[in-house]
Amino acid sequence: MDFFETVKRRHSICRFSDRPVAHKDILGMLEAATLAPSATNEQPWRFIVIRDKNLKEGMRDVVNAMVEAVTASTEDQSRQKRLAWMKSYSTHFADAPVAIAVLARPWVGGGYSPPTDPARRDLALESVAMAVAHLQLAATALGYSSCFASSPAEFAREELETLLGVEQPWFLVGIISLGVAAKRPGKRPVRKSVAEVSTFIG
Ligand SMILES: Cc1cc2nc3c(=O)[nH]c(=O)nc-3n(C[C@H](O)[C@H](O)[C@H](O)COP(=O)(O)O)c2cc1C
Repeated sequence: MDFFETVKRRHSICRFSDRPVAHKDILGMLEAATLAPSATNEQPWRFIVIRDKNLKEGMRDVVNAMVEAVTASTEDQSRQKRLAWMKSYSTHFADAPVAIAVLARPWVGGGYSPPTDPARRDLALESVAMAVAHLQLAATALGYSSCFASSPAEFAREELETLLGVEQPWFLVGIISLGVAAKRPGKRPVRKSVAEVSTFIG
């Protein structure tokens, strides 16, 4: 598939058919991810490919429990409504044929910056974001659909890290839901125009 066609076809899809994702295709997507640029080429990423139904459901349970705890802590009805919606926004990985947990490790950069420097985490996230984009585009090129979700980590980072056996300095960034789309994608969420987001100098 032509590169720009691939870019245009990628949508965030979170409902999938039962069709499996071929192992060799997952390896192809992971290889594409590893070819992404990263700050000082540290490649601060790890991918945990989860096909085990029980584990995916256990992960969903901990996310739901955390969302419910936050919901119980607020009286604000509009916030509660939003949180109810966040449940499905944060747990679609459980029904996807494949869930890929994306981990990062803070940037080291030769160790010149102090361990508390926020740039260490920023650079790791910037690098990992590029790897996720590569992975999602590769998934599209291979005929699959995906959705990256950061919210499971926002609600239940520590609980999920425990379930997945993640050890410091690694931390969970998000989870990619991956599979064959259940139906054709609807309209893409509206984008700002190139003119609106670009400035040419010179
Ligand atoms: C950093 C980041 C975090 C996201 N988190 C979530 C999420 O928690 N749950 C979800 O369903 N989608 C999530 N998305 C997907 C966005 O909602 C989606 O990319 C956006 O609405 C644009 O739609 P499109 O990807 O189909 O073009 C996330 C995307 C990014 C880049």
